[in-house]
Amino acid sequence: MAIHIKTPQEIAYLREAGKIVAETHLYLESQLAVGMSTYDLDKLGEEFIRKFGAIPSFLNYEGYPASICISINDEVVHGIPSKKRFFKEGDVVSLDIGAYKNGYHGDAARTHIIGNAPAEVKRLVEVTKESFFKGMEMVKPGNHLYQISGAIQDYVEANGFSVVRDLVGHGVGRELHEEPQIPNYRPRGEGRGPRLRAGMVIAVEPMVNMGRYEVRILADDWTIVTLDHSISAHYEHTLAITEDGYELLTM
Ligand code: MF3
Ligand code: CO
Repeated sequence: MAIHIKTPQEIAYLREAGKIVAETHLYLESQLAVGMSTYDLDKLGEEFIRKFGAIPSFLNYEGYPASICISINDEVVHGIPSKKRFFKEGDVVSLDIGAYKNGYHGDAARTHIIGNAPAEVKRLVEVTKESFFKGMEMVKPGNHLYQISGAIQDYVEANGFSVVRDLVGHGVGRELHEEPQIPNYRPRGEGRGPRLRAGMVIAVEPMVNMGRYEVRILADDWTIVTLDHSISAHYEHTLAITEDGYELLTM
């Protein structure tokens, strides 16, 4: 097993899949409304992705039963859309979207607040996004993977929040999840991690909790929630490492 270096042609395909993911995020954000079921938003997302001749990456992935992961409030990731779950004022909604086209995947997540929420909740969502870009400052050939991880962790913890340990980012390509795994914290005793090289394509995805970092999985075997019931936010892009930095493929 090794980290796959993509050719320019492969990166062109990954850019196309990533663009579909980005467009789907904009579309679903525009449709998100109080009273709508999470099932209906998922269906809108699936139809939108298919219009591009793409397939939702998550549908049937290891048995996942929907197209979009919709995780609300204390749900961290992998929330399953439901006909009985309705968006309400103040909800913190993480949408995670994947699209598969020409044999390649794109993967990205964003967190939205429906209507108004306490200042501390808004700060959580902002810090989560900003932590991703702190990680990006470390992305260039010659640096090491865990410099990204450490920059994310330091920024989140300096702001009084915690990074989830049990879930990580990943390489992206012909498979949704490729090597390497990308923690959002410095793994202890594992050195600096692999060296970054131009042509690597990775998804970096900080999951940030307002309270403690521990999580558990619900009885549906998918939904990850915070152990202390604190609110959680998620922010993710797929990016290609270039000669002088990076290119966001899901922007
Ligand atoms: N973006 C998530 C990830 O990278 C979602 C995949 S989980 C799935 O792991 F099973 F729903 F596909
Ligand atoms: Co991902």
